[in-house]
Amino acid sequence: MDKTVLVSGGAGFIGSHVTVELLAAGYNVVVADNFSNCDRTCFEGVKKITGREDLPLEVVDFCNADEAKAIFEKYPIDAVIHFAAFKAVGESVAKPLMYYKNNLQSFLNVLQAALDKGGCNVLFSSSATVYGEPDKVPVTEETPRKPATSPYGNTKTMCEDILRDTVKASEGKLKSILLRYFNPIGAHPSALIGELPRGVPNNLVPFITQTAIGKRECLSIFGNDYPTPDGTCLRDYIDIVDLAKAHVFAVTRMMEGKMKQDCEVFNVGTGRPVSVLELVNAFEKVNGVKLNWKFAPRRPGDVTAIWADPTLANREMGWKATRTVEETLKAAWAWEKHLAGK
Ligand code: UFG
Repeated sequence: MDKTVLVSGGAGFIGSHVTVELLAAGYNVVVADNFSNCDRTCFEGVKKITGREDLPLEVVDFCNADEAKAIFEKYPIDAVIHFAAFKAVGESVAKPLMYYKNNLQSFLNVLQAALDKGGCNVLFSSSATVYGEPDKVPVTEETPRKPATSPYGNTKTMCEDILRDTVKASEGKLKSILLRYFNPIGAHPSALIGELPRGVPNNLVPFITQTAIGKRECLSIFGNDYPTPDGTCLRDYIDIVDLAKAHVFAVTRMMEGKMKQDCEVFNVGTGRPVSVLELVNAFEKVNGVKLNWKFAPRRPGDVTAIWADPTLANREMGWKATRTVEETLKAAWAWEKHLAGK
């Protein structure tokens, strides 16, 4: 196979895992990143895991239209997977213009550059955040989208619409798949790549692992009075390697012309709701560590319960999540220990 995939934001948490799986499946990969929100740790880790010292890296700011265009001129790109975006919910509330400018401009430039070169396949990393607080769970791809609770979430909804409209107007030049991720967690089993949050983590699992290693004093569980079985929120935690493999299935589906529509949407989740408390207990049990945690007030903007109905991705793409929460939490802990040199 001689197909080339451009991975924008390819040095980040999801991008690095996807790069590993694309290379394993035989694709040529070009990693593009401006390292504005990550360092080189994961890129170096990808090279180690795959033995690909020659892996192309382009330091690109996709907000610059000329830079985006230059990449499409330089490589024969068959598909682009677009991850390059800011992703901190709280920060987006404080700095909305920064989020709208970065997340929308970079995507517009990627789409324009792809069109200028005659088109290609586009995979967009969307999020379950587009469902807001759903009226009914689990959510299918038909579940109505709701207004997002943050500018970050709005950028996902807006990019979905921009892509859909652009594909429609492209007269077959662009084909696209939108993957709506639920809660990606964990790390590669090699412990050479994983999540590397800057500063205090917003997300649950990095906060858990940093507390367990002693970097944070105490985990706050936000809210124990939700209308759920144990009072804490329910989410669909998806293993990062399972999630990465979904991208390979999606890219192959586009490349092999198996799509039923020019713009398809798939939920990428396990279909399994897990509460915050269950996750904390599972982490302690599987890793044999005691976690310092306390209940704290609800975090503004959190939805009570959301998990995926992944039937469509299972049936249409042939992809299915395979890892247990326990395996994933072991990998997350191994990564944190690797970072600490333990
Ligand atoms: N939580 C805690 N303590 C923490 C961190 C999180 O109790 O220190 C809880 C949250 O309240 C929530 C659950 O753990 O109930 C999961 O929280 P995360 O921050 O890990 O994930 P979210 O479900 O809030 O975030 C996900 C995606 C975002 C997306 C958001 C929108 O990671 O990209 O859904 O709902 F924007």
